[in-house]
Amino acid sequence: MEKFRHFTIGDNGHLIFGGIDSEDLIKEYGTPSYFLDVSYIESVCNAYKNAYIRSEMLGSISYASKALSCKEIYRIMNNQETFIDVVSGGELFTALSVDFPAEKIFFHGNNKTDEELDFAIKSHVGMIVIDSYEEAEKIQKIAEKYALTQKVMIRINPGVEAHTHHYIQTAKVDSKFGFSISNGEAERIIKFTLDKSNLMLTGLHCHIGSQIFEKKSFLIAVEKMASFYYELNKKYGLILNELNLGGGFGIWYSEGDIEFSVSDYTDMLTDVLLKVKDEFNAKNLYIPTVYFEPGRSIVGEAGITFYKVGSVKRIPNIKNYIAVDGGMFENPRFALYQAKYTVKNPLKMTEKGIEKFTVAGKCCESGDLIAEDVILPETKAGDYLCVFSTGAYNYSMASNYNRNPVPPVIFVKDKKSYYAVKKQTYSDIIRNDV
Ligand code: LLP
Repeated sequence: MEKFRHFTIGDNGHLIFGGIDSEDLIKEYGTPSYFLDVSYIESVCNAYKNAYIRSEMLGSISYASKALSCKEIYRIMNNQETFIDVVSGGELFTALSVDFPAEKIFFHGNNKTDEELDFAIKSHVGMIVIDSYEEAEKIQKIAEKYALTQKVMIRINPGVEAHTHHYIQTAKVDSKFGFSISNGEAERIIKFTLDKSNLMLTGLHCHIGSQIFEKKSFLIAVEKMASFYYELNKKYGLILNELNLGGGFGIWYSEGDIEFSVSDYTDMLTDVLLKVKDEFNAKNLYIPTVYFEPGRSIVGEAGITFYKVGSVKRIPNIKNYIAVDGGMFENPRFALYQAKYTVKNPLKMTEKGIEKFTVAGKCCESGDLIAEDVILPETKAGDYLCVFSTGAYNYSMASNYNRNPVPPVIFVKDKKSYYAVKKQTYSDIIRNDV
């Protein structure tokens, strides 16, 4: 059987997704629709877990659920026995609604509201990652009100620049996230936090960016964090027994991208974990429990979106446009980041491409594109297209722009498919209108 990435192609030339012919999936669920292959998600989780086994280090991955948040993904992560990250009351509520253990939740965000903090602390979330003085004050007050001690980390900016789009690059000194080590701000907020009686500071957090393939950026971040832990220990006798190194591992989107296999994630994480062991050992420091927060790499390549072609428009000597029944309301990543995607006809996987197209969405906006320079076999209205690597930051960034309903999310496992999220209806769209 022919293969395309981790998918197979049937003898009829159809893409087989999670063991099911894509034509059957399209017939059953319609378009546009998001699909996720649960086995792939599980294999990446296992790859990360193997790194802990190989490096003999303590800790866990904490799935960054901003990449894809719905009840089913939290159930899967609970079965995988990972931790999770949430960045809003809505994500927290969703996770708790399926009994995800609160103590295994990290709560992030640069401006958590009073209500969100109250909800999180009352729900006994395991960890809140502090990102401002005001927040440290608020957590102290709320924890006092409930007579609790809240475990916290502080978001640090180690000043490592990963090569990625500047909107998703987060650890520079000029960033809305975190406190920089270099200008003394990190040390100040740490002292401030240590003075709060209901806060227990167990470690520091950093996240250097997204879509990173080079382990070098992570290794430098480890060096900087280890040196900072050392400095804090020498100056204040502070012993921090946890370290969170954030997420950001890259995935394949289109030709020319680095093609990581699942075992490459094991290798990369193992090397970073071993670096932590070496650095902390060399400085005679307590070796911390280490957390990572991958989001995109767990769900991204597990996902695919199916569309139906509505029209083909050829502008002589300029461009050919294909309009599909989705668009920036269900995948805003081209509009936001000029993100590149691979588009194919799922029922003609073995046919050669003969014509170049720009794939456009149905929103009333010229920038509403899905992909440019897509080479496809003969294409006409009524054909289907699929876009690969849409499992992360697609459904989670969807909107009702132009009052389009958000497509359904279908999970596929062991040749069986089931709804994780049903398609929005027009009634859902007007539900809160008064
Ligand atoms: N931890 C923290 C603190 C983060 O800010 C992020 C992503 C992650 C973990 C997960 O990173 P990942 O492993 O998924 O790269 N909407 C953008 C991505 C924004 C990511 C923001 N933070 C996109 O569509 O590319």
